[in-house]
Amino acid sequence: PRDLYGARKNSAGLEFGHAATLGRLAAALAAADGRALAARPIAPVAVETLPSRPVLEPADGVSVVGAVAEATPEAAGPLVAAAKAGFGAWSRTPVEQRAAALERLAHLLEAQRDRLVALLAREAGKTLPDGIAEVREAADFCRYYAAEARRLFVETAMPGPTGEADRLVHRGRGVFLAISPWNFPLAIFLGQVTAALAAGNTVVAKPAEQTPLVAAEAVRLAHEAGVPADALVLAPGDGALGAALVAHRDVAGVVFTGSTETAFAINRALAAKDGPIVPLVAETGGLNAMIVDATALPEQVTDDVIASAFRSAGQRCSALRLLFLQEDVADRMLAMIEGAAAELTLGDPRDPATDLGPVIDGAAKEALDAHVAAMRQTARVRLAGPAPGEGHFVAPAIIELADAAALTKEVFGPVLHVVRWRAGELDRVIAAVAASGYGLTLGIHSRIDETVERIVAALPVGNVYVNRNIIGAVVGTQPFGGSGLSGTGPKAGGPNYLARFALEQVVSVNT
Ligand code: SER
Repeated sequence: PRDLYGARKNSAGLEFGHAATLGRLAAALAAADGRALAARPIAPVAVETLPSRPVLEPADGVSVVGAVAEATPEAAGPLVAAAKAGFGAWSRTPVEQRAAALERLAHLLEAQRDRLVALLAREAGKTLPDGIAEVREAADFCRYYAAEARRLFVETAMPGPTGEADRLVHRGRGVFLAISPWNFPLAIFLGQVTAALAAGNTVVAKPAEQTPLVAAEAVRLAHEAGVPADALVLAPGDGALGAALVAHRDVAGVVFTGSTETAFAINRALAAKDGPIVPLVAETGGLNAMIVDATALPEQVTDDVIASAFRSAGQRCSALRLLFLQEDVADRMLAMIEGAAAELTLGDPRDPATDLGPVIDGAAKEALDAHVAAMRQTARVRLAGPAPGEGHFVAPAIIELADAAALTKEVFGPVLHVVRWRAGELDRVIAAVAASGYGLTLGIHSRIDETVERIVAALPVGNVYVNRNIIGAVVGTQPFGGSGLSGTGPKAGGPNYLARFALEQVVSVNT
């Protein structure tokens, strides 16, 4: 097999819990507290903005992290024009120089890790281990796409019977629009941006409304690393700005991570606009399942269910939503899972003892609380609440459903749904998973190889995890992304991703 790992190394971890690590993080958190940050459009042109609004900490709903002056929808034109003006120079910049800038960015991210972890805790409510993992993932994307650009974007001679000199080259497409989510406001933000830049595009990046401050830091660091100001433009703003950017004639490609509904809206808008056919790379939601049979190890299942459903307060697109437990072991495993879930500590994400931080905002909390309340009418709520009074906290919830069909939409938070199945009903379970239409992550816990292979073969889900948890795909090793309602592919952090951001050109010379 080809060696796709090569000399690249993933960003190193930290001994979390080690006194020196915790001391450094505590100092970074103390320095960050009370320091108000600011975000506004970052572009070589001045654009119209709305009046500044405060960005509040999800942990208490009132502390001010900073302020953002969002671009108005009318600013879409000048922002895209700025990135268009930068396209000629950046697309002609040799691949080696583009890759080197991304590697410098990886280095800067690691050098500033503690400060970024503090900001992720304040603005996005990320626990310290989640913040550390996110900075590592962001650095991994930078290095992986740098390595991939070197591999892919070389002139390739195409041997064959023509008697001509045929060569294949890749070029940037133009201005790529990157629309990113709040749940990985650094890693996914930079993953999109660095993929598009590596392929020779310039980028207009629109971060999620909830997390403009982390995005502004990331763009400043990218510029410091050598990405030209007109190759990467930051466009903080709301959905109306996003829609104006998508509709802009000079946007040559869109990469989006977020809800399935928004992906549909973008797809429709791209189809409706005049001009070239524009590619959309979308990574959306999931109704992710884990299938557990009677041969699974109960302790392992418990650990993996807790991590998959509740880590990051369930706010990962990969997170576990639907657990299928074989009846013979269901009561025993549920008792263990409920016991472990009830032990989880909710609280300030800056406290090293915290397992679950807040959900992102008041609207998210309301929707999750409403979902659990509605489920009380039709299902058995086995565990729910209470959550700390201040801030947008949702306690882990476990809801037993009579039938998987009762859950039709992604519930984006720490809410686990459980369905029992009996020996001989595996096909029914597989059909229920397929019926959701989503296909992002899937867990299987079984010690029977045939069962595992049967499930894998039957379900074209993007990322399948066997006898382990289903979150935390590693860049370059576990390329990430789904099918069906979960996204278009190609997979982020995988060997087929960058090609989608580039144009292919074949030059045939009659020699
Ligand atoms: N890439 C993340 C994970 O694998 C999900 O967004 O958990």
